[in-house]
Amino acid sequence: MAFTPRAAWAETPAPVRAAVARALGSTIVAHTDLHGGMSPGPAVALHLADGRQVFVKAVSADVRPHNRHMIERESRVLDVLPRSVPAPRRLATVEHGPWIALATTWCPGLTEPCWTDASIAAVVQACRTASSHRAPKSLSPVVERISDFDGWARTRQTGATDDWTADHAAPAAALVTGWQQWTAGDALIHRDIRLDNTTVDANSAVLLDWAYAAAGAPWLDLAQLAADVVATGHVLGEPTATKRAHSLLRGLPPEASRFVIALAGMWHIRAETIPDTVMPYISTWRRARSAALRPLVSALIADLHR
Ligand SMILES: Nc1ncnc2c1ncn2[C@@H]1O[C@H](COP(=O)(O)OP(=O)(O)O)[C@@H](O)[C@H]1O
Ligand SMILES: [Mg+2]
Repeated sequence: MAFTPRAAWAETPAPVRAAVARALGSTIVAHTDLHGGMSPGPAVALHLADGRQVFVKAVSADVRPHNRHMIERESRVLDVLPRSVPAPRRLATVEHGPWIALATTWCPGLTEPCWTDASIAAVVQACRTASSHRAPKSLSPVVERISDFDGWARTRQTGATDDWTADHAAPAAALVTGWQQWTAGDALIHRDIRLDNTTVDANSAVLLDWAYAAAGAPWLDLAQLAADVVATGHVLGEPTATKRAHSLLRGLPPEASRFVIALAGMWHIRAETIPDTVMPYISTWRRARSAALRPLVSALIADLHR
C-alpha cells in the first residue's frame, strides 16, 4: 500500500549501505524500493551477488527516533520467534551513527492494496498458527503494547464533534472498560495485523513487521484482522468488508468485538489529538480508519447489548 512516502534506498548514506552489505557477506548488485508500510525510512528488496534476495528496512533517529526504536525491538523479537511461526528470519541488524537497518529473509508473495476472501483466509491461518504458540518469555504482556484504548472515554469527556460519536461514545467506552484484564493471556500475538504487514503467496501468508509482538489473548490478532479488513477495505467494497469482519468476529469470544470497538476509539482519539509533524498523512489515515469502522462498531455495540 503506497500511503507512506518512504525514502529511497539510494538516499541512505553510503557507509550504512556498505555496512549492510558487509553484514550480509555479499555485495548489493541491484535493489528495488518498496512503498508499503508505515515508516518514513527506506524499505527495499536487495539483490545480492551471491544470488540471494533479502528484505531491508532502515531509518535514522534524526528522521524519527520512534521508528529506530521499533527496528531495534523488531530485531529482538524476530530472534525469539519459534521457527514454526510464519515470519521472516532476521539476517542482520546494522547500527551506524543515528541509523539502524534490519535485514531479513525475503518473503515471496504480494502485499495487495485491498483484502480479498483468499487473503483473509490465508492471514486467518497465519494468525492461528502464530497464536497456537506460547509467547516467548522475553515478550512483554500485551497491556504494554497497547495505548490510547481509552479513546472513547476521553471523547466523552472532551465532547463529541458529530452525531454518530455523540450517540456511540458512551456505550463504546463502557464496552472497552477493563481491557487491561480481558486482553491478557500467554499466546504469541503479533499485535499489528494489517494487510500491509503481510505477504500472501497462493494460499499462504507470512506475517511481517513484528515490533509490537506480545503475550496476550489468543483471539487478539484475529480481532485486529477483522478491524483491518474494514479499515483497509475489501476488493468487493465496503458492505462486503463489514460483512466479512462481522462474520470473523462471530466465531470469536465477545472480547474480540470489544477489542475492535477499542481500536476504533484509539484511531479516533489519535486523529483528534496527535499532530504528526514527520508524517502528517498519518492523521488523515487514522481519521479514515475510525470513520470506516463506524458501521461495524454500531453493529457490534448492538450485538453485545443483545
Ligand atoms: N521479509 C519481507 N519480504 C518481502 N516483503 C517484505 C518483507 N518485509 C516487509 N516487506 C514489504 O515491505 C513493506 C514494509 O515493511 P514493514 O516491515 O511493514 O515496514 P514498516 O515497519 O515501515 O511498516 C511491507 O508492506 C511489505 O510489502
Ligand atoms: Mg509495517
